[in-house]
Amino acid sequence: MTTTPLATPAETCCSAGSARPWPTASARRIRRGLSERSPSLHHHLANVASLAQAVSRKHGLPEVDVEWIRIAAELHDVGKMAIPDTILNKPGPLSNDEWAVMKRHTVIGERIIRSSRSVASMAPAARLVRSSHERYDGTGYPDGLCAGEIDVGASIIAVCDAYDAMRSDRVYHKARSHEDAIAELRRCAGTQFDPAVVELFCSTIERDDRTQNPTPTGGKQ
Ligand SMILES: [Fe+2]
Repeated sequence: MTTTPLATPAETCCSAGSARPWPTASARRIRRGLSERSPSLHHHLANVASLAQAVSRKHGLPEVDVEWIRIAAELHDVGKMAIPDTILNKPGPLSNDEWAVMKRHTVIGERIIRSSRSVASMAPAARLVRSSHERYDGTGYPDGLCAGEIDVGASIIAVCDAYDAMRSDRVYHKARSHEDAIAELRRCAGTQFDPAVVELFCSTIERDDRTQNPTPTGGKQ
């Protein structure tokens, strides 16, 4: 598993003397815009952020990296604000042309995050969002990175994203059980997902009772 540092000392997210990391306000502003566009997407981002934070901590990453991963997870689908509803909420499979549009959301998200403050300040989160749909076998997007080329934070977000999508009702599928979702993650370990990250996720999220906090039905997330 890669342990690429996510922030240089100059980019660390905790301002001196502050209990809250400084990018949180920027992230919250962006997420507020997203919640107007899609309440279900907003809910999904909150779920993925809390899963990614737990998994990153379990991995033993420095707290500054945990915080960048949480922020990036909270924003990983922000580029979907620019994707038409006809694609996001399409009940059936996407055509090749529609997929090409959909795949632009990671790069658009990176651009939105970088433009939200100075490039340096949000750069670690923007980089993770860009890579959140890369695949372990190199067939992901936008850069076709594989295995050790993918930042561990992006690999964690990818697994948490897939898990939350499977556990929630979508226009194109019903929510699956925790056990089914875990089995699917393990089935895709080594192709779509980093196997070490999948096992880390499984050991971190041993149970998940969605009946306490159901996610509204959403589109393609
Ligand atoms: Fe997502």
